[in-house]
Amino acid sequence: MLLSLVIKTNPTAEKCTYREKCYNFASSNARLRGKILFIELKVQNYWPFILPNIYKFHHPGSGRKQTIPFPKGRQPTESDVLKVRELLIEKPLLKSELIEYLHIIQDQHGHLSSENMAALAELLGLSLAEVYEVATFYAHFDVLIDNADIPPNEIAVRICNSLPCALSGSNKLLENLETDSLKGARIIPSPCMGRCDVSPVAEIGHHYVDYATTESIKKAVDDNNTDPELPDYPDLSSFKKNGGYNIYEACINGKLSYNEAEDIILSSGLKGMGGAGFPSAQKWAFVRKESKPRLLAVNADEGEPGTFKDRYFLEKAPHEVLEGALIAAWVIDADEIYIYLRDEYPAARKILLKELLALENAGIINPGKIKLRRGAGAYICGEESAMIESIEGKRGIPRHRPPYVAQVGLFQRPTLVHNVETLYWIRKLLENHQDSSKSDTKNLSANLRAYSISGRVREPGVKIAPIGITARDLINNYAGGMAEGHNFKAYLPGGASGGILPASLADIPMDFGTLEKYGCFVGSAAVIVLSDQDSAREAAVNLMKFFEKESCGQCTPCRVGTEKAVNLMLAEKWDEKLLEDLSKVMREASICGLGQAAPNPMDSILKYFPEEI
Ligand SMILES: Cc1cc2nc3c(=O)[nH]c(=O)nc-3n(C[C@H](O)[C@H](O)[C@H](O)COP(=O)(O)O)c2cc1C
Ligand code: SF4
Ligand code: FES
Repeated sequence: MLLSLVIKTNPTAEKCTYREKCYNFASSNARLRGKILFIELKVQNYWPFILPNIYKFHHPGSGRKQTIPFPKGRQPTESDVLKVRELLIEKPLLKSELIEYLHIIQDQHGHLSSENMAALAELLGLSLAEVYEVATFYAHFDVLIDNADIPPNEIAVRICNSLPCALSGSNKLLENLETDSLKGARIIPSPCMGRCDVSPVAEIGHHYVDYATTESIKKAVDDNNTDPELPDYPDLSSFKKNGGYNIYEACINGKLSYNEAEDIILSSGLKGMGGAGFPSAQKWAFVRKESKPRLLAVNADEGEPGTFKDRYFLEKAPHEVLEGALIAAWVIDADEIYIYLRDEYPAARKILLKELLALENAGIINPGKIKLRRGAGAYICGEESAMIESIEGKRGIPRHRPPYVAQVGLFQRPTLVHNVETLYWIRKLLENHQDSSKSDTKNLSANLRAYSISGRVREPGVKIAPIGITARDLINNYAGGMAEGHNFKAYLPGGASGGILPASLADIPMDFGTLEKYGCFVGSAAVIVLSDQDSAREAAVNLMKFFEKESCGQCTPCRVGTEKAVNLMLAEKWDEKLLEDLSKVMREASICGLGQAAPNPMDSILKYFPEEI
């Protein structure tokens, strides 16, 4: 009784829940750590009798009968709670960081056990169901079900089987590995990892094996090589030597006004590079109309099969992206920036963590101004409202609109969402405009974007090319032509969702608005090239399986539609009428872009490759 009073008067934990108060108190008093936790939990056993009313557990129906309530469901043990708290000792215990805490627990144990999830729920004041539904939503969390044997600390070996990797033989690789069975490793077929130019790709823990073979994968497992390799990149000091952060300084020092910046971006015609192609300056104006405080969220979730340009910018030019983010935040007068980075980019995460600290130490940003959040393997979290849900520590389920995220976004605040590449170009465009010595290139960057090209070309990779380049031009003049022994048959102009076109239509400019009349779109400009050795139909099946797996399941046309479509597409002869009906329903009734665009490749096959069905 006395001890519970001591805990409650802890002044450092004014706004916390009762349980958080105890844990915060315990963790902030090293001398008492452990003891207080223990006592608090002992007290809990008798809480109906000794705790004040507000802390009592009330369950529906107890009413007048005054049943003595007791906590239901799985209760964490004292030692489980203590162990999880020790693991998160540096952390503030915020519900919105649930995904990060799950990562930390999984990194430590190799999986998420019911005991650890119950302990985490207790610490965060969440129900176990909430923790469980989040943990099971994301592919990178390995949740153990009750009574499952605790697995040995196996290394997760993820083999990419999305289209570009499948073209390079990843399915055969998977088969061989499964029959060969690697000792001490778990083989997991996985979607695109953003390295389609070096396919097939395997991820061993957080270490990537490019051009993977059974031998190279085995070697990495045997060597326990699970850490990401950092590429060479320009750090803060080298970026500053080349004029880095001068544009941002001009913005905050009043040398560049908001109106000027808006005019430059408006007249450049810059459109969002995340896929939707919404004019960036127009979006700024929408968000500025909303009341403060506002937030900026950077979308670095890049999961569209065939797309790897955001990784390119994060690994090759991280400070250009960060300066672009600071400028965009200045434009909308946002105090905080959240970067949502996919878990598949561990090298980019290391770079960002290091360079964000360097920015703080250099006094360019205040500590905590830019927060880095990591995803956990869910393509749908690239959709902006799903991303926001995920940053808030929830399942990545798209929100219904209106309200739009520009009005009610992250933590209910007006939020500007920008793709990584968009931020890169925002800075570049302003830089070129400011620098008179670059007047000849003033408008050049307004006409450029990054195309990720993969598949049957000689030199796959990220190509900075004029916006609206044709596939033929891109293949021949940027990607070294077709790969040896392959003849150009078809291409995907916009990754998995953008449809498939035959080579006879390879002279259409690949830009927003130019491909729609052919049933396609450019989206994030992921160009995947197929040859005479590939089946367009099989490619479409691969893409539909991807959508089936990645559908968040919220709405029936997408959840059931993708599954039905896969089954129908696996039939020897396609039922055209039925597939057309299904496509219509999915397009018209799905809540978000995933379900609306999922039928594109299937429709392309019906339209352009009837001989294959
Ligand atoms: C299913 C789906 C997945 C998406 N994935 C991404 C993504 O990985 N990265 C991204 O920047 N935008 C993605 N988008 C688009 C975002 O919703 C949003 O339009 C974009 O991040 C806005 O930034 P921008 O205007 O700078 O392009 C996706 C959209 C949908 C419907
Ligand atoms: S369309 Fe698919 S991904 Fe989008 S909300 Fe519906 S079920 Fe989820
Ligand atoms: S990394 Fe395999 S398809 Fe992109």
